[in-house]
Formats: sequence, structure tokens, C-alpha cells
Amino acid sequence: MKPVRKAVFPVAGLGTRFLPATKAFAKELLPVVDRPLIQYAVDEAREAGIEQMIFVTGRGKVGLEDYFDIGFELETTMRARGKSLDLLEPTRMPPGSIASVRQQEPLGLGHAVWCAREIVGDEPFAVLLPDDLMVGKPGCVAQMVEAYNKVGGNIVCVQEVPRERTASYGVITPGSADGRLTEVKGLVEKPRPEDAPSNLAVVGRYILQPEIMRILEDKETGAGGEIQLTDAMAKLIGQQPFHGLTFEGERHDCGDKVGFVIANIALALKRDDVAPAVRAFIADL
Ligand code: UTP
Repeated sequence: MKPVRKAVFPVAGLGTRFLPATKAFAKELLPVVDRPLIQYAVDEAREAGIEQMIFVTGRGKVGLEDYFDIGFELETTMRARGKSLDLLEPTRMPPGSIASVRQQEPLGLGHAVWCAREIVGDEPFAVLLPDDLMVGKPGCVAQMVEAYNKVGGNIVCVQEVPRERTASYGVITPGSADGRLTEVKGLVEKPRPEDAPSNLAVVGRYILQPEIMRILEDKETGAGGEIQLTDAMAKLIGQQPFHGLTFEGERHDCGDKVGFVIANIALALKRDDVAPAVRAFIADL
């Protein structure tokens, strides 16, 4: 079984739910407390042993590559002023560990993943949607890699959602369960609550086999007229092992304004440096 060494970060979506904030820069650069969403996702991938980060970017998604580069002017000025550079430490990446490709048109998540096919090559890979902020110890991808090392194949992160929310997610038809791992018998994108096969929704973390790229090659469109990753994954069921892992931890949907504000509060309350003041403010409210 080949190890999971690469991760794809699709960051080419339009982020329309966050306009005007996302007009000139990527949604993934929005900060939760003091670090952008992309930093949390990259940290999670590195913790899981991922060596190569592949960003699928789009026009106007400026700043992402620079964020992980040396801020020469900033660092020179800070040094000259005797300021510590410690806070920049998380942005330092091993040379060559970041690659990026362009998705010229936002044709869907499946299409974004397919745009990374040449860099992914013939090995299993993780996909992380950075606007799903996953908080756990170990992190979500590390939990998935651990499961992958046991069962192989494809693994999606799943979470129980209220039935009335199924139309916002890919939903699995569950098979037999073993602890937090559930066999995936079917997958459907954005089903209406009355049609949903369960309330186990796929959230933004995946471990996929490279064969998915050949399916995505067909560029079939699905829900919303987009090339859906869920539809391509559904075609792998029965051909390769396919499981859903219920992640042990918290998920914050930061692609949504409410989720984003809640994430800021939740993470602030976990931080020794800001929690006391934030807690006092909330208590006052
Ligand atoms: P979303 O469904 O959150 O779409 O995409 P979006 O365009 O980013 O946001 P809204 O709905 O307009 O506010 C899920 C993930 O897939 C990526 C997004 O960047 C996000 O990480 N994506 C989506 C692409 O990279 N390309 C696409 O064509 C579509």
C-alpha cells in the first residue's frame, strides 16, 4: 500500500457567500483568530505526514503562495527593529513542498481536483477543503491516515448532520460499521432530505486513490451543473475499498458567515492569550 504523501487544497472557488471580503483575495486567507484558514489546513496535513501541498488556485486568488514564502521586506524591517520573527514560524515550509496549479474556470470541486492530476501522479492523495476547519487531536487527516493504513482504498470524513441539511452535502449510503469506520455503499450529492440515504454527510477531507482522476477526465456534470467530486467517488464504490470515518473532534464550516464567526469564538476560547478577555466580553453580553 502506497503511503499518502501529497495533499490537494482546492482554493479556486468563488467564495460568493463571503463577498465583498473575498473579492480580491482567497477565502482561505480569512483569519480565524490570528492565522488564515489555509494555515490550519496545511498544519493538519503536515501533522499527518503529508510532504507535498498542491494548491489549486484561480484568478484573483492572490496571496496564497506569498503567504508561505519568505516575507523579505517584512522580515528585514522587523529584524532591524529588533522584533522577534517567531510568529512567522508556521509559514515556513520546506523548499519545494508547495506546488500550485490553476483552475481556469470554477467548474466544480471534481474539476479542481482533476486539475492537480499531473502533480498527484500515480499515488493516493488527500484532499482538504480549508474552509472546513477541523479541530482535533490528532488532527482529522492524521485520524484518516491511521484508518487508511488499516483498510486502504478511499476514505471520506463523515459527520452526522440534521436531516433538513442534507441538500448542502454529499451523503453516504452506510454499510457495516466498525467503530468510527463505516463502509460506504453509495454516495449522492446534495440530496433532498426526503431522498437522502442517511444523515451521514461528507465533509471537507478525503483520501483518494489516483484512479479517481481517470473518472474525472470524463468531466460529467452533476448537481448545480458542476463537475462533482462526489459523483466520481461514487463510481469507485465496488471497485476499491471505500469507507467513511467519523472524525473525533470539532468541525467549523468557515465557508459560511455564521460558521466563521463561531469558529473565531470557539478557537479564541481555546487560546490562553485571548480567551480571558473574550470570555469576559461574552459574559458581559
Ligand atoms: P464551495 O462549495 O464552498 O464553493 O466549494 P465556493 O465557490 O468556494 O464558495 P461559495 O459557495 O461561492 O461561497 C468547496 C471547495 O471547493 C473549492 C472551493 O475553493 C472550496 O474549497 N472549489 C469549488 C474549487 O476549487 N473550484 C471550483 O470550481 C469549485
